[in-house]
Amino acid sequence: MGKKIFSGVQPTGNLHLGNYLGAIKNFVKLNNEDQNQCVFCVVDLHAITVAQDPKKLKDNIYETVASFIASGIDPEKSIIFNQSKVSAHSETAWILSCVARMGWLNRMTQFKEKAGKDKEKASIGLYSYPVLMAADILLYDTTHVPVGDDQKQHLELCRDVAQKFNNDFNVDNFFKLPEPLIQKKFSRIMSLRDGTNKMSKSELSDLSRINLTDDKDQMINKIKKAKTDTLPLPPTSADLEKRPEAKNLMGIYSTLMDVDLDNTINKFSGKNFSEFKENLSQVLVDKIIPISSEIKKLLKDKNYLNQILDNGHQKADSIASKKLKKIQEIVGF
Ligand code: AMP
Ligand code: TRP
Repeated sequence: MGKKIFSGVQPTGNLHLGNYLGAIKNFVKLNNEDQNQCVFCVVDLHAITVAQDPKKLKDNIYETVASFIASGIDPEKSIIFNQSKVSAHSETAWILSCVARMGWLNRMTQFKEKAGKDKEKASIGLYSYPVLMAADILLYDTTHVPVGDDQKQHLELCRDVAQKFNNDFNVDNFFKLPEPLIQKKFSRIMSLRDGTNKMSKSELSDLSRINLTDDKDQMINKIKKAKTDTLPLPPTSADLEKRPEAKNLMGIYSTLMDVDLDNTINKFSGKNFSEFKENLSQVLVDKIIPISSEIKKLLKDKNYLNQILDNGHQKADSIASKKLKKIQEIVGF
């Protein structure tokens, strides 16, 4: 039996190596498995939980779609669409927000991080964001959700909401409980400037991340400037535990090469960072530059991107609106 896959990426610009290695690379693998039904959503409703410039948001939606396709997702095989076009997502989110409990949302660490010290000023959307994410997933009877490690807690919440809805309305198994698909190793790619912080779109310094749209010189320069320590590369993985930057760079190398970390450690043990960084830059250029060039090419053809989104929107809408109808019947509308 194939899997029913759903995942979302926010169109907030600067898709980076963390998004690619943590999520999109996995989307491509799942897209390529014969039996799977895959839905990949550009989650623009999630994006506006923090202020967005409307013009940039539009550009970022195109850039996200282009990144999906350039990375190898086949729009003929997988459904690619933007969330705001399928109104069932917002409608279901409202119903589920009457099922989810404040206490559950109060535990969400991403809200705490994003809202910062002044929670009173955070939008209500930012707070209820995981409920919308649950609606996204549950509308498609999703069995598996490929995401980075930072989304694990939101998926647990999604399962709790699904379970509570099924119990409250006595509809056993109506919502399927989805499983997270999180890379076992290096599920969290860290900043190039600080190995204890995750690589992120919102970090101020562009040197902290490799963007999927960076050119060759930018990539080489960022790896050259990436923070390291003064020791040579270690002989065992245990030695890496106290060296977050070295661990992150070796993890990136291993993930890009599809090899075990131990393999990378054996290859570079005792060598200094400059030699390792040259190898890492080379691999990055080999693997990511073809994607970056393809993104730039696709962005010149908005008609093609619009066609993909329209097509995806129709397919997604047909699945989601049927499920919403059943939800409405269950709650008594
Ligand atoms: P976002 O850009 O926040 O919508 O994230 C899109 C996907 O990329 C989600 O599955 C995230 O979990 C994943 N992701 C984001 N940043 C990282 C990172 N630094 N390492 C691994 N995965 C990440
Ligand atoms: N919250 C996710 C993120 O920031 C994006 C997202 C929205 C998502 N809806 C989803 C991921 C549904 C997986 C499934 O990365």
